[in-house]
Amino acid sequence: MIYKTKYLYSDINGKIKIVTNKITGKSSVAVGGLHQSGQLLINLWKQVIKRLPRAFQPAKTLLLGGGGGSLFPLIKKFYPQLTITAVEKDPVMWSLAQELYPQFAQSTKAVITDAQNYVKESQEKFDLILVDLYVGKDIPEFVYTPDFILACRKLLTKEGFLIISFPVYEGRDLLLDNSWRSQKEFGLSPTIVETNTTHFAIYSK
Ligand SMILES: C[S@@+](CC[C@H](N)C(=O)[O-])C[C@H]1O[C@@H](n2cnc3c(N)ncnc32)[C@H](O)[C@@H]1O
Repeated sequence: MIYKTKYLYSDINGKIKIVTNKITGKSSVAVGGLHQSGQLLINLWKQVIKRLPRAFQPAKTLLLGGGGGSLFPLIKKFYPQLTITAVEKDPVMWSLAQELYPQFAQSTKAVITDAQNYVKESQEKFDLILVDLYVGKDIPEFVYTPDFILACRKLLTKEGFLIISFPVYEGRDLLLDNSWRSQKEFGLSPTIVETNTTHFAIYSK
């Protein structure tokens, strides 16, 4: 067998499946049948980070949903000098980031807490904020609200960007449609990057 599978359990994410290719050493992480961390996720985020202006050179990034850590190498590949703060409320997920990406996890400032509270209370500014918050198939509903998006945007530096990932599948369409409508009422008009499974919204300060 080329693949090795193991399971972890957490109060927040429930059953977490980790599949590792024994030859490449690469792992993917799934919760509730949905890919949470690994190459598929990296490929999606790559498409959107590529859309940021070439001259953009962020020094500090905030990742909400540190999860299994698979975005760390991608972010560092685009912006080698950048420092990362990762907020993750599930300690089991964070332990996976430490196991799968030890070097990156070590150089990341990890904050094990709820992202919504973190954003409300933080005074720190970031050049790039990435929101990758899922629990299984669902994104917490607060992510769709102008309140949360405006609070994130408040933490941006003058030239900074905020990117939020929204899943696209039946059952979430209405929530997303309503969200676009209420975002517009609050003057939020992001650039949307569409992929088959996810819509990414890019906001500037
Ligand atoms: C798609 S995974 C993140 C994957 C990660 N970016 C990676 O590259 O491996 C989503 C993560 O969001 C975390 N999460 C969900 N709701 C959260 C919240 N309210 N505050 C902080 N983390 C949360 C979950 O525990 C999960 O680890």
